[in-house]
Amino acid sequence: MTLQEKLKEYQLKHEAILATNFYNLETLQGILLAASECNSPVILQLTRSSIEYIGLKEAVVLARQALDSFKIEGWIHLDHGDSLELVKKCLTQGFDSVMIDASNEPFDKNVEITSRVVEEASKHGANVEAELGYIAKLGQEQSGVYTTVEEATNFVKQTGINALAIAIGSSHGFYKSAPNLNIERLKEIHAAVDTILVLHGSSGIPDSMLQEAIRNGITKVNLATDIKNTFMKALKQILFNTDEIDLRKVFPKATAQVVDLLVDKFKATC
Ligand code: 13P
Ligand code: ZN
Ligand code: NA
Repeated sequence: MTLQEKLKEYQLKHEAILATNFYNLETLQGILLAASECNSPVILQLTRSSIEYIGLKEAVVLARQALDSFKIEGWIHLDHGDSLELVKKCLTQGFDSVMIDASNEPFDKNVEITSRVVEEASKHGANVEAELGYIAKLGQEQSGVYTTVEEATNFVKQTGINALAIAIGSSHGFYKSAPNLNIERLKEIHAAVDTILVLHGSSGIPDSMLQEAIRNGITKVNLATDIKNTFMKALKQILFNTDEIDLRKVFPKATAQVVDLLVDKFKATC
């Protein structure tokens, strides 16, 4: 099933698919071990930094083979694509889905850039996600400015995207103050706009709040920082207490913590 079809199916059920970022073999394994324990489909996301770190072809081969070996229904997605050039490279390598993030641009420019990506992706039958409004990037402050219904409606009509990341109060990375999602705005956008709605910045949002967002129209939940943080914190702790130099004995213990985190997240979001 294509990701577009799967997301539609989940939208109708008022359920969400977890979209998890991976950074290396261990975090990829952690995601798939958890997905198979929960028997959940999963979206495997790569940012430009992760692609540059792992290698584009290597990342696709690893992810595709891992899905196959674990018998998990999953899709490979470019997270926060920042240029048409990167999008094209990913599509050529067989990504199922791409995000173009031109949310820093004025509305019309965002429409123009996103439309080019939609045109390109349609040649590959790929899913396209774009972003509208201000979702705080890592280390930035939340602005309290939310995506409006009118802008969302026009943006989806003008671009033909399949999925839209909306600003409803979430931010990337950790939260300095308790997260507070604008569920009213989410409901309004969900009622007015015919597209898949995506929640970015899910690390740090309590499960009950994620569930409320899913009940009210979020169909894709993006989780990144929690995965990276869990792996590195566990690793630090393990290394502090051992002189073991065989990484094949050390890393799996950190991977196990990622599995625990994600089993909980799959259970909370599915
Ligand atoms: P977090 O890092 O806050 O989980 O956000 C993830 C995300 O939005 C990836 O696109
Ligand atoms: Zn994001
Ligand atoms: Na976050």
